Amino acid sequence: MKGAPNFEIRLADENDAERLAFIGAETFRSTFGHLYAPADIAAFLAESHSPEAYRRTLTTPDFRVWIAEADGGATVGYAVAGPCGLPVPDLTPNSGEVKRIYLDETARGTGLGARLMASALEYLRKRFDRIYLSVYSENFPAQRFYERFGFAKIGEYDFMVGEHADPEWMMELGEPETAQIARPCGWNPAWNAARKARILSPQAAETRTPCPTSARSK
Ligand SMILES: CC(C)(COP(=O)(O)OP(=O)(O)OC[C@H]1O[C@@H](n2cnc3c(N)ncnc32)[C@H](O)[C@@H]1OP(=O)(O)O)[C@@H](O)C(=O)NCCC(=O)NCCS
Repeated sequence: MKGAPNFEIRLADENDAERLAFIGAETFRSTFGHLYAPADIAAFLAESHSPEAYRRTLTTPDFRVWIAEADGGATVGYAVAGPCGLPVPDLTPNSGEVKRIYLDETARGTGLGARLMASALEYLRKRFDRIYLSVYSENFPAQRFYERFGFAKIGEYDFMVGEHADPEWMMELGEPETAQIARPCGWNPAWNAARKARILSPQAAETRTPCPTSARSK
């Protein structure tokens, strides 16, 4: 872990929509941008990381956003929690979700992710019976980060970035003995091989049938 910078965490409100959209879009581009065509990135950012999208989140009942700021007020990260919107099999009505934890590159490895996760889990545990999240199937540092908090994989689904489908893990907090692998969107076992080929050769043509989903957490 790096030296411990002085980050403050507070609950965000509607006035923070623009700065959340800015850091959300920047973090998405720097972490995942190399995986997608520009048109898919543009569509996804407009839908999920626009100021309007964050304004909706900030004004929807039962959603909370925690924002982390460095000395001087620069936004360095945030976490979002709320009711679960994932295609979890047998989802019970009172289920919550860690929707997103995003840190600016300068704030990673400082313990800030753990502090944001603690804020989100404290809220979710009080309000919901079960807690889920989703993570890109090849975001290995984030998967290990979630496993350290007690999340375990329970299934997969296709996460849409524009017209592009990505395999995404669903993870549940605790009770790993109840885990079951579910592939609700017609998972294609050949997909991983096709995806690896695309990363090595981004121009390679690939045909897939995207699976629609309402979950928008990436
Ligand atoms: C995932 C994330 C929230 C974890 O927060 P964090 O405070 O960095 O957490 P940790 O310090 O425990 O580090 C998590 C992992 O990132 C690695 N890491 C540390 N510093 C890093 C840096 N500067 N850049 C990239 N990874 C780093 C850690 O080594 C660790 O991996 P390990 O399990 O192999 O040791 C944060 O890295 C992040 O925002 N990543 C980009 C966005 C993202 O992927 N969000 C999750 C989407 S589901």
